[in-house]
Amino acid sequence: MSVINSHIVALSAYKPPLEGRNPNAFTLLDFNERTIPVAENVKRALHDYIDAGRLQMYPAYGDVVARLAAYAEVAESQLMITNGSDQGIDLVFRAVSSSNAEAIIPGPSFAMYHQCAKVEAMTLREPKYTQKGGYPLVEVLSAINANTRIIVVSNPNNPCGTLVSVEAIQQIADAAPHAAILVDECYFEYSRATAVSLINDCSNVFITRTFSKTWGMPSLRFGYLMSSHENILALCNVRGPYDINQLAVVAANAALDDPSETQSYVTEVMEKAKPLVESWLDSAGINYWKSQANYLWCFPDEPEKVGDHLQQHGFLVRPKNYNDQVGLRITIGTLEQMHRLIDVWEVLLE
Ligand SMILES: Cc1ncc(COP(=O)(O)O)c(C=O)c1O
Repeated sequence: MSVINSHIVALSAYKPPLEGRNPNAFTLLDFNERTIPVAENVKRALHDYIDAGRLQMYPAYGDVVARLAAYAEVAESQLMITNGSDQGIDLVFRAVSSSNAEAIIPGPSFAMYHQCAKVEAMTLREPKYTQKGGYPLVEVLSAINANTRIIVVSNPNNPCGTLVSVEAIQQIADAAPHAAILVDECYFEYSRATAVSLINDCSNVFITRTFSKTWGMPSLRFGYLMSSHENILALCNVRGPYDINQLAVVAANAALDDPSETQSYVTEVMEKAKPLVESWLDSAGINYWKSQANYLWCFPDEPEKVGDHLQQHGFLVRPKNYNDQVGLRITIGTLEQMHRLIDVWEVLLE
């Protein structure tokens, strides 16, 4: 008999398909990552930190919270740093869980929400996104009951890229004052949409962000969480004092020294490369969801064949299903990478 709780033993681990992701062999368009390396000053800061012989010291985070608060336009007391946004998400689930707790997680969406809910033995309610309506707001509002402890707003949602307005988030927060509203702004620099204006007045709103996507450092695991001062104090009681890697803070500080570098990548992706791919998909008659992030979820004929063909020609994309239909979620990279992708894909249509 296991001493571990039976519902934990019965879970399956969240295992993203990482095998074979060789960046020298493929252009990686399968994990919504930035497709070019971080800026030189970030690399230099990491080297300098190591060369200064400081790896043997426990982390000391300095003024990074103040710098992030200034960047995100919140008070310093309304922000805490986390080990990736995954940790921020997990902290909120852990902190609000109770017996008979229910989580409303519209789907399909990012797998970690399910994982965290299941670890807490929560009952899941999963209204469905639709291509026409996006976030299932009406269904979410009607799924709220006395046991609802958390409602997820993945904004923009992964894999579909759709956004929920601040007004709708406020409506959800008002309808469920006894539940946490988890607003995941993982792709914030792409969408520029934020619910930060709600945290002064809605004490149940929690916003997570990350340096994994636009800033290009998922391997370092750095994110931050914003909410009311009282909530941040409480969540800091759950997070460990050294959970965030010191090298992640060094890199994030260096990236914040020059946000224009990230901004110019975002501009290329959102204003040049993404419109190029969208207009090509339109001309090829391939259906895709309108997205506010650096990925497009599309539904070509024979999706497996397309995925295999792209892989054989050096591009990895990610299958993501909707109902019984196989879709492909494609990360948008630089203009040059997207031209190459289209050239390769076109061969298949000829
Ligand atoms: C919607 C969403 N939230 C959170 C994450 C995880 O981000 P992090 O690397 O900061 O844990 C991802 C990663 O793919 C994501 O798509």
